[in-house]
Amino acid sequence: MTPIALSVNGRKVQALVEPRTHLADFLREHCRLTGTHLGCEHGVCGACTVLIDDEPARSCLTYAVQCDGLAVQTIEGFNADPIMQELRTAFSREHGLQCGFCTPGMLIAARDIVRRLPDADARRIRVELSGNLCRCTGYLGIINAVESVIAARASKPTAVTSQAAAPPPAPLQAFAPTGEVARASMAAPTPAPEEAHKGWTRFEESFVVARPPQAVWTIFADIPAVAACLDGVELTEHDASTAKGKMTVRLGPIQAGFSGSAVIERDDRALRGTIRGAGSDRGTGSRTKGEILYRLAPEAAGQQTRVFVTVEYSLQGALAQFSRSGLVLELGRRLVADFAANLNARLVGAQMRAAPRTPFNAGRFLWSWFIDELRRRFGR
Ligand code: FES
Ligand code: FES
Repeated sequence: MTPIALSVNGRKVQALVEPRTHLADFLREHCRLTGTHLGCEHGVCGACTVLIDDEPARSCLTYAVQCDGLAVQTIEGFNADPIMQELRTAFSREHGLQCGFCTPGMLIAARDIVRRLPDADARRIRVELSGNLCRCTGYLGIINAVESVIAARASKPTAVTSQAAAPPPAPLQAFAPTGEVARASMAAPTPAPEEAHKGWTRFEESFVVARPPQAVWTIFADIPAVAACLDGVELTEHDASTAKGKMTVRLGPIQAGFSGSAVIERDDRALRGTIRGAGSDRGTGSRTKGEILYRLAPEAAGQQTRVFVTVEYSLQGALAQFSRSGLVLELGRRLVADFAANLNARLVGAQMRAAPRTPFNAGRFLWSWFIDELRRRFGR
């Protein structure tokens, strides 16, 4: 999964997406903007046309990850656009649509013609619209509609341009929470875990750090420092709100290296944060998605901090068998305990218990867990 941040109809969206997801699927399935239609899905029909950085583009031929940092505008984003209003009226008047399947792409292409070619005649409009196919209406009504808008605007030199009426960017906005990408949206309220992640494995843990909450909060913002406290984790890229890296886990003869990425949210006032991530291991064909919620609370008259952690994850593939046992919960708890020990060691300037980037040795843990179980069951 790859983190992306883009603007969709003036709203900022952050999400984790599969690199193979094309923009049309991202808009329809995760942003719930179904006005972008899919016909051929290989660049011929034009039904999926949207604007990317103000240029018409086939969203079926564009990967969502290619739109990182760009502005996308779909047919839903033109409600206040004067050229689009004129085109809609003209399409209705000239019978430029029947079933309407081609119409969103046709309107976006037509608006581009009106803006770019104020002198276009019927022949030029036909050439310009040749990348948009219509199965039912025939093209005469569509050509007439576009031609009539160009003619009407030519007779009114002070006609309002689309750029002047463009809406200002809206603040971070979450779309309907229908999947992992929507869950990753920065503005989404943190859902109650029980409701949000049915079927995921979940455990809660807490530990104490020998520093006041603000000092712990500051170090939690230092992503390389946090990664260095997690055995087997290697950070490859990061900024304030996203991170990419790899976690290596060794289980006897099996060594799994999960490459993945995460989106990080922090609430400075409440001293709480969320890390949502996903990764996969090619060697075992396993995939995982997870979410860590953490919250800091003062202890010992504010001289220490209790860190409350809730971990939820799902595991698919060859390693999934390990995700359902009580044993794996213990393994998660041991990971958290090692992290706490390393964090405390770092804060007091001591050497960390395990060297960073050492694979997390689950086999070593399983053996000690097995011995503990024997002792517990047989009382020795
Ligand atoms: S669906 Fe994209 S061009 Fe046909
Ligand atoms: S109006 Fe039906 S495909 Fe164009």
